[in-house]
Amino acid sequence: MALITKAPRGTQDFTPDQSARMRYIEDTLMRIAGLHGFGEIRTPTFEHTELFVRSVGDTTDVVQKEMYTFEDKKGRSITLKPEGTAGAVRAALERGLLAEALPLKLSYITPCFRYEKAQAGRYREFHQFGVELLGAQSSAADAEVIGLVQEALDTLGVTEIRLFINSIGCPNCRPKFQQALKDYYSAHYDELCPTCQDRLERNPLRILDCKEEHCHELAEHAPIVLDYLCDECREHFEELQERLRAMGIAFEVDPTIVRGLDYYTKTVFEFKTETIGAQGTVCGGGRYDGLVELMGGQKQPAVGFAIGLERLKLVMEACGAPMPEEPRCDIALIPLGAKASVRCSAMAADLRTDGFYAETDLMNRSLKAQLKYANKIGARYTIVIGDSELEAGKARLKDMDSGEEQEVAFDRLADVLMEKEASRLYGEIADAQFGLEELSGVLGQE
Ligand code: HAM
Repeated sequence: MALITKAPRGTQDFTPDQSARMRYIEDTLMRIAGLHGFGEIRTPTFEHTELFVRSVGDTTDVVQKEMYTFEDKKGRSITLKPEGTAGAVRAALERGLLAEALPLKLSYITPCFRYEKAQAGRYREFHQFGVELLGAQSSAADAEVIGLVQEALDTLGVTEIRLFINSIGCPNCRPKFQQALKDYYSAHYDELCPTCQDRLERNPLRILDCKEEHCHELAEHAPIVLDYLCDECREHFEELQERLRAMGIAFEVDPTIVRGLDYYTKTVFEFKTETIGAQGTVCGGGRYDGLVELMGGQKQPAVGFAIGLERLKLVMEACGAPMPEEPRCDIALIPLGAKASVRCSAMAADLRTDGFYAETDLMNRSLKAQLKYANKIGARYTIVIGDSELEAGKARLKDMDSGEEQEVAFDRLADVLMEKEASRLYGEIADAQFGLEELSGVLGQE
């Protein structure tokens, strides 16, 4: 097959089975965010370039190397969003959401675009689920968003993942740390990559997360941010740890986490796994107390995170987490002849209105071929309708699992299917109850 072109490097197609998994993950995340009071915000896929340059920072890898930036037909510089925070905060300010009762809790699912080296778990178009909690300064807010991630991971059955936290200080204590970094890296100036040589004067913190191998090695012996925190930042960090312990959330302090975006202050955190290869950071987030003001609003503290949905799906698959089963066709209506086909289409439409997943032949197939197809799509029931059934207004409904058949009048079909579904569900519940009783019996004996 000679396709005229393939999907661009770093992009993915989600076929129906994979989309079902993504949708299940997205629905679960949004449901949990809803239980925490987060309302969904939808913002444009592209924004004015300066939004990201100013917020993410002009010395970050994202802005310097990875953005999809282009001029529109009027010569304005436009960028496909590389992350969700900047757009959400811009929208909150532009729509006056911060003038309402605080805290403001926003959640989103959005495509993101970064021109990175594509590999397993790293794409040029990917999707983030994120939350942004604006207006709350206390460590309780940090703990709440971290707790939300933990709950989501537990609910989705992700086991092999660890939380790492750090504090990267505030405008009060950061300058001292920046100076210490400058002193350290100046002694290694010739060993730095050209981008980091430029960063040394402008933003030495960024050298710490450079992906170049030697810069990465140098970072191992660089000064440690936790040694430079002011009292307020230290207290905030200690309080957060106390809260996480009280919530039963396991974590490790990792002073090397600085995150790749400029807006962070105080708390930063990442959830990482070793089950999906080199791109193991499934979730990243932190506090960004200066961003709202930087964007032209009144100073407001904020904290949030984003989970990469593709990576979350990969880690779920690696852990053997439960995934949605393929939907099973409730009934295949099998017409024999043109008149029956017309009737079956109408009956299928009625059944769908009643909430059943109904199929009928669209291919003019023979009886045998239709039965084969019904098997392939896993139909629970089939009903064969020919001229004599049309005349009688009834036909034999076959249970494809048990082989049992029963005669059903067409106008009773939906009711009969409903009764069968109810008794099937009742059977499942009874089985589950029996299982529980057995289990509690066994536990009682021990
Ligand atoms: P980030 O760490 O740049 O943070 O991205 C968050 C997550 O997006 C990562 O942990 C990863 O799972 C996923 N991700 C990033 N790049 C890629 C890629 N090329 N391919 C696949 N997945 C990727 C942010 O974007 C911040 N806006 C998070 C935040 C929200 N901080 C505060 N609020």
